[in-house]
Formats: sequence, structure tokens, C-alpha cells
Amino acid sequence: MAFYFDEPARTFNEYLLVPGYSSSECIPEKVSLKTPLVKHKKGEEPAISLNIPMVSAIMQAVSDDKMAIALATQGGLSFIYGSQTVEDEAAMVARVKSHKAGFVVSDANLSPETTLGEVLELREATGHSTMPVTEDGTAAGKLLGIVTERDYRLSRMGLEEKVATFMTPREKLIVAPADTSLREANDIIWDHKLNSLPLVNADDSLAYLVFRKDYDSHKENPLEMLDAEKRYMVGAGINTRDYAERVPALVEAGADVLCIDSSEGYSDWQRFTLEWIREHYGNTVKVGAGNVVDREGFRFLAKHGADFIKIGIGGGSICITREQKGIGRGQATAVIDVARARDEWFEETGEYIPIVSDGGIVYDHHITLALAMGSDYVMLGRYFARFDESPSNRVTVNGSYMKEYWGEGSSRARNWQRYDLGGTKKKMAFEEGVDSYVPYAGSLKDNVDTTLSKVKSTMCNCGALSIPELQDKAKLTVVSSTSITEGGAHDVMLKDKSPYVGNTIG
Ligand code: IMP
Repeated sequence: MAFYFDEPARTFNEYLLVPGYSSSECIPEKVSLKTPLVKHKKGEEPAISLNIPMVSAIMQAVSDDKMAIALATQGGLSFIYGSQTVEDEAAMVARVKSHKAGFVVSDANLSPETTLGEVLELREATGHSTMPVTEDGTAAGKLLGIVTERDYRLSRMGLEEKVATFMTPREKLIVAPADTSLREANDIIWDHKLNSLPLVNADDSLAYLVFRKDYDSHKENPLEMLDAEKRYMVGAGINTRDYAERVPALVEAGADVLCIDSSEGYSDWQRFTLEWIREHYGNTVKVGAGNVVDREGFRFLAKHGADFIKIGIGGGSICITREQKGIGRGQATAVIDVARARDEWFEETGEYIPIVSDGGIVYDHHITLALAMGSDYVMLGRYFARFDESPSNRVTVNGSYMKEYWGEGSSRARNWQRYDLGGTKKKMAFEEGVDSYVPYAGSLKDNVDTTLSKVKSTMCNCGALSIPELQDKAKLTVVSSTSITEGGAHDVMLKDKSPYVGNTIG
């Protein structure tokens, strides 16, 4: 006979935290959000810990090298999307590992033939106002000049005008050699009152741009995720098909941790992948698995050696899996069930396997709820897709800035491996995700700062200065549908679109 779960599966929106005693010592400045990224034995330190409990989703519209650098700077970690060729994914990982903080490889480059109209379009799409001009229009071409807002005057110039005629040419630029240190570059920037300094190689090809603001922000980021050689840390997605080629290439490129990216993780395909990695790399390669939504799924992946386990089926904002296939589970219930299984496993084996709530975070407080329910960190797609640093272009829709955001199970992503159930099938028979817009929200740093200040504030309301303490002390209550209405502004007429109403969904 079929098995029935006794309780209905619930979502984050159906819960609230009931405050506990907050002592005068319990203030947001003292809260630590440090959390284990991978499994560890009782009493031992995990090989890698996150400094903030946030990782970015393994998706084309979310996690490329630029996102990875921005998030690692703030103390989190990105998993570079695996739905690209092995070479391209490894190259993204390598770019993160070779990135020197404060040294920017420009992603808005012009050639002398680019028109003013194209400059404006590129500015709109990337948000960058400083654009190097190189002979071939690439980030590594011979430097010919720079275009900033000060070089064009829209009222006086035609959109057809070529960059060559209005750029600040190379001979008027102050540049420095590629091996200049950040401190030296910063001194030059200040001495000459510059906003940016191009660093060039001996053949005058462009190496980096250093911006005045980047040097400052570098000093302001004490939570940066750095490896032993002071390089940014980065994760990478793999699939259950081509791991024999993909894993070695990603390890070679310097990936710090891998994650099997699949819509459903309780399968032999994940077991084969984990076994292959353990056979070839022992425990030196860290690899997470998932997604699962119950105790059995957790125990299966734990038994086969996953370093962390991801939770969630059908809760993602772009996800239509539940509609298409009728599988899934309310995210809050899934997290609570898997957290119990994780604790039970720890009691039995002395092995603590971090769990990650993946998908379905709509409001900032959902992060706090996920952590309180036992998640060690959360994976977010839509949240990060809205920022400057996500891979998609910014577009204007009905007068508002938007970013494109598409599911890995949409026909746009063509990530058939993620939904693969074996056999010889090489393409998706139906979609499990949609292509959409999300409201543009600005820079990752500003948004993450705001989100985490809310998380810390709530933690203090619960009397917790750390995530384990929150998990220990949290009192959670299910809310009735009428009290959900009571939770927002109600029975008042809003003067304008308040920033306090659904602020993370825009
Ligand atoms: P979000 O944070 O609610 O946008 O959810 C992101 C998560 O949704 C990802 O980390 C994946 O687990 C999941 N996901 C990504 N693409 C798809 C899709 O096309 N269909 C179903 N789930 C998806």
C-alpha cells in the first residue's frame, strides 16, 4: 500500500519565529554567520566553512565567474553552472582562481569602430560607465584608449559617431605595468586624481583595470572566502553523465568543491558519481549531492559519501516540476525532515553532514527560517539573478529595469543532464522550468548586507549569536492564513509602493 506522510507539506511562508530572551550581550554586531560547507567529524573543524550562509545556484542565469568573485568577496560561495562544455566551465573556475582582488578584467570592451549608440547599449546592459577601447575590442587586446561618460555629450553627438573620434586616446592616458601592486596602483590613482587605471603588458595589451572604489572595497571585506594561497574560493556543478571528463578538468582548474546538480538526487546515478569520485580522489575532492526531500534520500546520499546534501524539489521560483510531474515537497517540511535525519546520522556516526535548503527563498526572513529549521546554509537562484553581477543582461520592461532569469529545466538552458534518469535519452521530452524576468536590484554587496542585517537582527530576537545556537533555541510556529495577511501592512492605504512590502520580490 502506498505510504502517506501524516502532515501536510508546508512552505516557509507558513512559519514564524517566536522571539526568545535576548540578553544585552546579544546584539547584531556580535553575531557570527560562519557555517560548515562540508562534512566533518565530531570535534573536528570542517575542511571548508562559509563566512555567510549563502551560496548561489548552479544556473546559467546566476553563477558565472563574475558572480563567484562578487559572492566570495562577501563571504559566500558560487557553484559555477555545469550546463556548458567542460572546457568553458573549467575556464570560468580558472578565472575565479586567477582573479586578483581589485584587478578587474573588463567585460565591457569597445573597438575603435564601435558606435556611440552601441556604447550606450553596452552601458545599459552592463551598468559600466568606464570602457576600455582595444584594437580588436576584447579585454586582452592592444589598448587604444578609454571611454567614460566624460567623453561624450549626447546633445552634441550622433549615435553613429565612432569611438575612435571621441575616446580619450592611449597617449593621454596614465597607465601602469601589469605587475603593479594594488597599493602602488592605488597611489597612482590618488596622485593623478583618476577614477580608473589601466594596467598593460609589455606589448601594450590590456591586462586589468584598477578602480578607485575597488581598492577601498577590498579593504572593507573581512569575510572574503580565500584559499590557502589567498585565491577566491569557488564551487562547480557536475552531472551524473560526463563526470569522468568534467571532474578532472574542474579539479585541475582549481575548483574548491563540487556539487552534483540534479533535480532528484535519490538515485543510483548519484551513487555512481560519488563512487567514481571516491575511487579516483579519495576524500581530497569535496562533493555535495542532491536534491532530496526526506530522511531516506538523505541517508542514501550520506551512506554513499556526500560531503553536503541539498534539499528541495519543486520549490524554485522558475520551477514547474510539481506541475509537470507531480513530485516534490513543501520546502519547510523537507528541511525539517532532513535536518532531523542529519542529526540522527550525527548521533549514529559522529559525522556532521551539512544540509542546504535550495530554492524557494522569496523574502529575506525565509533565510532565517531555513537556518532555524536546521539548514546549515541556503542556495539561492532568483535572489542573485537580480544583481549587477549575474550573467544576464539588464533590460527595460514596461519602463522598469529587469534581469532575465531562466530555469535549468527550461528549453533555453537545455540542461537535459539535470533531469536525466539514465537510458540513452539525450534531450528533454518536456520542460521543468520557465524563462522569466526578475526586477533588477543593484549590487550584490548592498543587497547581501541588507539581507544579512535582517537575519542577524532576528537571530538576536531569538537570543542566538551563531547559527548552531539559533538551531538550538529557535521556537517556530505555524501561522494560519489570516495571520499571514496580518503579517504585511494591512488596513492602511499606502502612500506609495513601500520598500517594506515584499521588498525582495520587487
Ligand atoms: P530560486 O532561488 O527559488 O530561484 O530557486 C533556485 C533553484 O531552483 C536552483 O538552485 C535549482 O535547485 C532549482 N532549479 C533551477 N532551474 C530549475 C528548473 O528549470 N526547474 C526546476 N527547478 C530548477
